[in-house]
Amino acid sequence: MSFDTAPVAAMRQDGEMDFVDRVAIVTGGASGMGAATIRRLAGDGARVVIVDRNGQLAHAVAEEVGGTAMVGDVSDSAFCDVAVAQTISVHGRLDVLVNAAGVIVRARGEDTTDDQWTKIMGVNVNGTFFMCRAALREMKAAGRGAIVNFGSIWGDLGSAGVAAYCASKGAVHNLTRALAMDHAADGIRVNAVCPGEVNTPMLQSERAEPVTQELLAQIASTVPMGRLADPDEIARVVCFLASDAASYMTGALVSVDAGYGAR
Ligand SMILES: NC(=O)c1ccc[n+]([C@@H]2O[C@H](COP(=O)([O-])OP(=O)(O)OC[C@H]3O[C@@H](n4cnc5c(N)ncnc54)[C@H](O)[C@@H]3O)[C@@H](O)[C@H]2O)c1
Repeated sequence: MSFDTAPVAAMRQDGEMDFVDRVAIVTGGASGMGAATIRRLAGDGARVVIVDRNGQLAHAVAEEVGGTAMVGDVSDSAFCDVAVAQTISVHGRLDVLVNAAGVIVRARGEDTTDDQWTKIMGVNVNGTFFMCRAALREMKAAGRGAIVNFGSIWGDLGSAGVAAYCASKGAVHNLTRALAMDHAADGIRVNAVCPGEVNTPMLQSERAEPVTQELLAQIASTVPMGRLADPDEIARVVCFLASDAASYMTGALVSVDAGYGAR
């Protein structure tokens, strides 16, 4: 059996991580791992659009990297359609969509209110789906594109006290696989990163107890490598999946968890 390796060799020479002339939307790009992803994509030459409900932070990150901000709520499908349509109208194309917008509720199933359940599903599941759907229609017409969704260790593993969050991330994992199957023949790749414990505002949010150095050290002690991740350690993997370097990857759930799920 022989393989034609010329395309791979050419790609290596061209620079696999190069996003020059490419256009990327990152939801949740105003904070944490979304912002780290925006900084990397912009640094690698992409024209970036930050989609976030936090206008102040979104505009600050956009100014920092020379991108644009679109302020709104990804759980609103009409807003998602407009975000994609406006990106196409301003930049003429959409190559990359990263869905990092997310929320967490720290409650056992029995204590989770209707509002909490509806909110977390609205942002984490509906928001990811609405943005994917809007982007996929454009990417299919263009015959190319890469989507990276944010799953979680809690999308595959159960954890006490975060029932709705676990359910929402499980849905994102299998949505990612299903959309990858829908579009495998269209030149569009759909993958997910599944982070472990990452030091972002979300890690510290919604906790009943005060967030102290002791608490952070205790969370870190549950991780095989014994530390929390820096957001950029996840952003690097997101950019790899969004790049041509991952040209043979679709439907993959890539753990970036310092061994958390390997036990
Ligand atoms: N921090 C962790 O340890 C961890 C671990 C695994 C997965 N994740 C996932 O990674 C992703 C990024 O999380 P992070 O830790 O960087 O969080 P973060 O809180 O720092 O950032 C989340 C961003 O999403 C935005 N956002 C929230 N709801 C939105 C909505 N309805 N519409 C538009 N924007 C909205 C927020 O304004 C914020 O800028 C999330 O999907 C999260 O569930 C986080």
